[in-house]
Amino acid sequence: GFRGQVTLDGPSGTGKSSVARAVAARLGAAYLDTGAMYRAATVAVLDAGVDPEDAEAVARVVAGARIEVGTAAETERVEVDGADVAERIRGAEVTRAVSAVSAVPAVRRRLVDQQRSLVGSADAVVVEGRDIGTVVLPQATVKVYLTAAPEARAQRRALQLGISDPAEVAALAADLRRRDEYDSSRADSPLRPAADAVVVDSTDLDREAVVDRVVGLALAAA
Ligand code: C5P
Repeated sequence: GFRGQVTLDGPSGTGKSSVARAVAARLGAAYLDTGAMYRAATVAVLDAGVDPEDAEAVARVVAGARIEVGTAAETERVEVDGADVAERIRGAEVTRAVSAVSAVPAVRRRLVDQQRSLVGSADAVVVEGRDIGTVVLPQATVKVYLTAAPEARAQRRALQLGISDPAEVAALAADLRRRDEYDSSRADSPLRPAADAVVVDSTDLDREAVVDRVVGLALAAA
């Protein structure tokens, strides 16, 4: 079987999470969703009543929060200070605030350390995020950067959320652009492909085709 680390980075709405989970299942690998960790940190910030743009206060809250995530592809376990937040992290309130929280360098340092130690003991792992190939695991076996045209990403997100109203789809597209812009332009660990990443454009590929491609790359490299 596969032994090694697969990194899967890219913007939102590319189908990255469902691809990453399916690849992990196919490879018999562990799975780490680092976005869930930034989202959990954001729950802690919101619950503390702190302004997500107040970097100092955000750093203080996140330093004191216990963030736990599972590493199985089949289930999603996410806890903050022992409370189950797996559903809450997908809500609009968290989605709005997460880019600001994740731009704080102290937050990134803390979560990157935790990500490395979670990955450390696994023989085989798929790690999903924005900076995994560039910062978290620069020595990974295979690095994939998953992209898709913005319209395709907004459509996919709309389908996921059961939204069909054109105005709401347009609002989703605007939110995706806002987050991409924020994530790509931040000073600390901006969203970008690693120099040695394979860029996969999923605009015209279905999920199975993307999964096959990533599994193929992983098995060829192992
Ligand atoms: O992947 P997901 O949409 O859950 O990520 C939520 C947010 O967390 C991203 O928009 C980004 O701001 C942040 N993030 C990050 N670095 C990662 C993973 C996620 O900054 N490795």
